[in-house]
Parts: sequence; structure tokens; C-alpha cells
Amino acid sequence: MSSPRGKFLTFEGLDGCGKSTQLERLAGKLRERGLAITVTREPGGTPTGDKIRQLLLDTKTSALSSKAELALMFASRVQHIEEIILPALAAGHIVLCDRFTDSSEAYQGGGRKLGSELVLELHRVLCGNLAPDLTILMDSEVGASVERARRRNQARTNADSLDENRFERESRAFFSRVRSGYLEIAKREPQRVTVVDARGTPDQTHAKILQIVDERFGLLGSAVKARNVS
Ligand code: TYD
Repeated sequence: MSSPRGKFLTFEGLDGCGKSTQLERLAGKLRERGLAITVTREPGGTPTGDKIRQLLLDTKTSALSSKAELALMFASRVQHIEEIILPALAAGHIVLCDRFTDSSEAYQGGGRKLGSELVLELHRVLCGNLAPDLTILMDSEVGASVERARRRNQARTNADSLDENRFERESRAFFSRVRSGYLEIAKREPQRVTVVDARGTPDQTHAKILQIVDERFGLLGSAVKARNVS
């Protein structure tokens, strides 16, 4: 007998908004409840996708055209959907994915000014319109987030010679367009996308996310209640 379809949750937001930390904390809480969790990310998530990720994020990748960048994001995504996401959902897992097609719409559609239409069309043709059951959009201030991402990536570059700084070099205007792009998506699809104000402490943001996930799926029940009374 096949397992029921799992749940597909994505996290979105500007570089440095704290989403990877929040995703890990949510994963920990869900695991405590004995749920089967797959944690993954884009670009990447598969061996092939990780090679594409390296190409996309390395500052040594110069003069990459915006459309080539978008195509590479989708190449990574298609592989990821087929190799990881669909099998995990079919096995009944809760898939927590750090970025998905909304990132392409916000960064390539908005930031690079390619527009939403092209991104949504590629998503339809290449990804069969696979939609998350819930998207947490962590909304944060442009300046503070990008500064945080730059500092973190610089530290990583020094420690592991892992260079993932290509996007962090973009201008403030670029990230303002990314943020607007995200907010437009949330306005268009309020049933799927929940905006979380990520400017508070990590603990406050975590509590908000637990509440949203619990309200939507009832997966955490007593864990959230126990937290509220303590
Ligand atoms: P990520 O590792 O999530 O960066 P961070 O932890 O700083 O948020 O993502 C890498 C970068 O790739 C990030 O700057 C956003 C960009 N990106 C796109 O431009 N389009 C996409 O479709 C995806 C998935 C990511």
C-alpha cells in the first residue's frame, strides 16, 4: 500500500533573514514529534544540483546572463523534484525546503527584472506546477539582512574556501526588488504563502512559525501549547 502524500513546506526570504536557522529549528520540533522529515535546499539538494549551485553562487562565475542563471536554477530544481522531493512526499515525509520557485520569481523575475511570467511558465512546463502546501516568507529589512549574509559568507569563505558570495554582491536596489517580488507573491497567493515578520529575536520568530504550522497542519499540537504556558 502506498503511503499518503506528505507535506511540502518551503522557506523563503532575503539572504541573511535567518531562514536556514528557522528551518532547522522547525525540523527539530517535528522530529521530536516522531514525524519523518526531509530537509533540503535550492539551488542544490542533489549531487548534480550541488554542482550547479557551485556554479551559480561562486563569485568567479562571471558574466552569467540573467536567463542562463534562471535556466540553471530550474535545472537544479527539476533534478531536485525528481530525485528528492517527489519520492519523499510519496513516502509520506514532511519536506522542508530552503527556497523553491518563489526564489526564482523574486530574484530572477524581480531582482534581475526578467518578470514573473517567464518564471511561472518555466515552473509550469518543467516542474508540473508543483506547489508547496505552505510557504513561510520571512520578511526582513533589506540592509540588515544582506549585511548579515555578507558577514556570514565572508567568514565561510575564509574558513573553508567555499565561495558563495555572488548574490550578496548585488546592490541594495536589487534586494529591494527581490523583497517587493516576494511581497507580490504573498499578495497573489495568500492561501499558500504566510508572511512572518522576521525582525524579532530568533525565539520570537520560531514561536510564530510553530504556531502557523500547527494551525495549518495540526502537527505540533501539544508542543506549541506547552511552549505557550511555560
Ligand atoms: P541560499 O543558500 O539560500 O542563501 P542564503 O542562505 O544567503 O539565503 O541561496 C543562495 C542564493 O541563491 C541566494 O542569494 C538566493 C539565490 N537564488 C536565486 O537567485 N534564485 C533561485 O531560484 C534560488 C533557489 C536561489
